[in-house]
Amino acid sequence: MNEDRIRQRVSEAYTKAISGSTDSCCGAKTGCCGSDTTASCTTAEMIGYSKAEVSEQPGAAISSFGCGNPLAFSDVKEGDVVLDLGSGAGLDLLLAGAKVGATGKVIGIDMTDAMIERAEKNIKAAGVTNVEVRKGLIEALPVESTSVDWVISNCVINLSPEKSKVFSEIHRVLKPGGRMRVSDIVAEELPQEIRQSEAFYNSCVAGAVSEKEYLTGLQKAGLDDIHVLERVVYDAKQIRAFLGTEDVSELLQIFPEQTEPVRQEAVNMLIHQIAGKIWSAKFAATKPMH
Ligand SMILES: C[S@@+](CC[C@H](N)C(=O)[O-])C[C@H]1O[C@@H](n2cnc3c(N)ncnc32)[C@H](O)[C@@H]1O
Repeated sequence: MNEDRIRQRVSEAYTKAISGSTDSCCGAKTGCCGSDTTASCTTAEMIGYSKAEVSEQPGAAISSFGCGNPLAFSDVKEGDVVLDLGSGAGLDLLLAGAKVGATGKVIGIDMTDAMIERAEKNIKAAGVTNVEVRKGLIEALPVESTSVDWVISNCVINLSPEKSKVFSEIHRVLKPGGRMRVSDIVAEELPQEIRQSEAFYNSCVAGAVSEKEYLTGLQKAGLDDIHVLERVVYDAKQIRAFLGTEDVSELLQIFPEQTEPVRQEAVNMLIHQIAGKIWSAKFAATKPMH
């Protein structure tokens, strides 16, 4: 499948996700990333947002498809320019908007019309004027070179079929000394059945590269001071919890000739096989001054 076709399928999946007609997406309704799956905790809280952040932006928080809180380890200040890659329904945009204030600016980039519409609705409801969303690809950002202080992104780069282009674009748009904070899924030694699955690709699993590949990609793009700030490694229970119904039915199809109990057992074994090999990592990097 070529890169444009992969992006088209991802975009279709997130169009469905934002309209609530599928749960086969990153950060799907059950909340993929936290260990606490109690009803008193929202999905956004499970992946690292504070109660205060969630209650500040209830509309956007409910439509979060992230796997972390990229702003949590940043010191975004008043007057800064922040760029969010794959901004979705806009939770990180609005939280960044509150930090940069009236003298700063926040720009979100997304390729999916339905997500952009939802983000614009949330921005309008919040009554802010320092946040805008542009339609575009993270592999070819509609953003001026050396114009932003921060690049953030939440569970998006794993979905790109051209990650090296994304890393080069991050380097291009950052001002010298500008910084990157990205929450994303990384994965190691996944079985072929999962690597080849479209549902698992859209769920932020099959397209995930290893942490080492991620770090090397950032380094090759010319970024500096590259490190991992935080990791949340998923166990079998968490993986079970974040699999959408489409993922599970796709897994069950892997063993068509078997009886239902045997297929369920095979799926359980597969889940145990990938437990500990998928995690959410928070990456930090800086564009060198020269
Ligand atoms: C998993 S969701 C994350 C959304 C948001 N960051 C959040 O935390 O809720 C992925 C988002 O990235 C967008 N996206 C995926 N690949 C993209 C690409 N190559 N270019 C632009 N947007 C992309 C999708 O349309 C979707 O809105």
